[in-house]
Amino acid sequence: MSRDSFGSRFGALVAMAGSAVGLGNLWRFPYLVGENGGAAFIIIYILLSFIICLPIFISEFVIGRRSQKNAFAAFRDLSGGSAWRWVGLFTIIVPLVVLSYYSVIGGWSVEYLLKSVSFSFTGEASQSVFHSMFTDFVSSTWAPLIAHTAFLLVTTLIVIVGIKDGIEKFSKVMMPLLFFIVVAIAIYSMTLPGASAGLDYLFNPDFSKITGKAIAAALGQAFFSLSLGFGTIMTYASYVSKKENIMFQSAATAVSDLMFALIAGMAIMPAVFAFGLNPQSGPGLVFETLPFVFGQMPAGGVVAILFFLALLVAALTSSISMLEVAVAYLVEEKKFSRLWACVVLFAVCWVVGAICSLSFGPLSDIKIDGGNIFDFFDNLSSNILMTLGSLLTVLFVGWRLKKTDVYDEFTNGGTLSRNARLFGVLWFLIRYVCPLAIAAIFISGLL
Ligand code: PFF
Repeated sequence: MSRDSFGSRFGALVAMAGSAVGLGNLWRFPYLVGENGGAAFIIIYILLSFIICLPIFISEFVIGRRSQKNAFAAFRDLSGGSAWRWVGLFTIIVPLVVLSYYSVIGGWSVEYLLKSVSFSFTGEASQSVFHSMFTDFVSSTWAPLIAHTAFLLVTTLIVIVGIKDGIEKFSKVMMPLLFFIVVAIAIYSMTLPGASAGLDYLFNPDFSKITGKAIAAALGQAFFSLSLGFGTIMTYASYVSKKENIMFQSAATAVSDLMFALIAGMAIMPAVFAFGLNPQSGPGLVFETLPFVFGQMPAGGVVAILFFLALLVAALTSSISMLEVAVAYLVEEKKFSRLWACVVLFAVCWVVGAICSLSFGPLSDIKIDGGNIFDFFDNLSSNILMTLGSLLTVLFVGWRLKKTDVYDEFTNGGTLSRNARLFGVLWFLIRYVCPLAIAAIFISGLL
């Protein structure tokens, strides 16, 4: 049976952008920007995205497209069967861990979409009502479990259908929708009285805030946002036609991811400031502050529905990319049918996710390193496993693959002259700059 693949350039692009654009853009980026020096942080973020992250993205692209195989087989075959294949296996396990807890948050967005459809965010006098609403929900046993199950089920159903008919079709419809919703909310939000304070918070450059920690935060965020070190880009790239231009596809994904993050900031922060609130990061921003804001603003009920729909779509286009990594492995290496691979992986992620979900309620007494089980998985994967995955990937491409093979893949056999001219710089970045930079943030994160 021939291998499934993306049917078009646009399809491959929106699927990759879909993987990249997710909760990271909507709930972390805007806050990080405001906290760390506004436009000054954005400049650093853009530089790091293009100097460090783009070469890593391209490295993953080269591995995937050259091998046209799942991540395990890609490392195994391209390295001539050496121990590098275990790195491949590592990049398959990491997204499964992330998917398990990502699905819990995906479940919360399902719940909040339903809440917004029933217009539950009415004008309350204080934000504390929404704080209690959120903590009561996440610390209960069944409601978040049901929501997690629903989210994971939808993710699995899309992946079961396949690359062209499932992942690609879904992304082709949902990514433009997501874009229009976020742009519409941004326009609306910026017209609210007092919105300019939010824009100041986002864009006022303050170079004194650019510390080592801010740079490490920018790089960590860029990694997570571009889905690097997870085997995802590699796996999606293995379904991309040999005719496509790796440089174009990679840069276009990075630019869309950045644009989404900035527009998300312009959608959220002006509204938060217009109502005199302080921004938070993560769940607090999306599930406590924003419902309060929606309760106050004119037509907030409709904006809430659109926002939580966008959140759900963004989470889904990311979660399907995480699941596909392991599905490709089981189907190609272990000869599972696609359906059966999806069922088994659903079960595994459901159990791990359920433990994460319960760690806000019945299992909240179990502490690892001061946090609950959910925090443990989140920290482990986004601070350690992801960085390690990216480091090993660039080392593999820069030091194990033959330079001529990387050149061949990057330039489509020498036919793309612009890529050929860029190759020298790219090779230098992959071989020296990226590994050193990753090692530096890895170490600074441990300090
Ligand atoms: N890039 C996604 C986000 O910003 O939310 C998260 C993500 C997706 C991480 C896919 C890893 C991955 F494999």
